[in-house]
Amino acid sequence: MKPEQLVDLAIEAMGHAYSPYSGYSVGAALLCEDGTVYQGCNIENATFTPTICAERTAFFKAIYDGKRSFKAIAVCGGKDGKITGAFPPCGVCRQVMREFCKDDFMIYMIGADKSYEAHTLAEILPFSFSAAEHMAE
Ligand code: THU
Repeated sequence: MKPEQLVDLAIEAMGHAYSPYSGYSVGAALLCEDGTVYQGCNIENATFTPTICAERTAFFKAIYDGKRSFKAIAVCGGKDGKITGAFPPCGVCRQVMREFCKDDFMIYMIGADKSYEAHTLAEILPFSFSAAEHMAE
């Protein structure tokens, strides 16, 4: 699958956001190693803390379905359903990516004109803690 297709699926997912408190919609499309795509959106809560990001919604849907190998994720976000600028995943979502993905996992941060910045997980989460590296016997 081309990055552009993943970008389109993330933009579509943005329309599913439940974000009445921030007014900020986020969409994600996660590409599995087997070619399957999982979409996610942010889902907010009146007590704020239970809010989940779009990236983790996509990951947790995939993990529940038994997927364990991932290639890339495309993410976009903005106010009033409009993409504002290249979207950087939050630190918590980066750590969840670290749990399941290798250094070369790709993150496509989508900009206002559907362009995207491509970075590896190693680039956006340097000096990271991972079970595979730090808790192995
Ligand atoms: N949000 C995401 O969905 N992903 C991120 O990586 C950062 C933030 C959501 C959470 C909240 O609903 C809104 O954006 C504003 O923080």
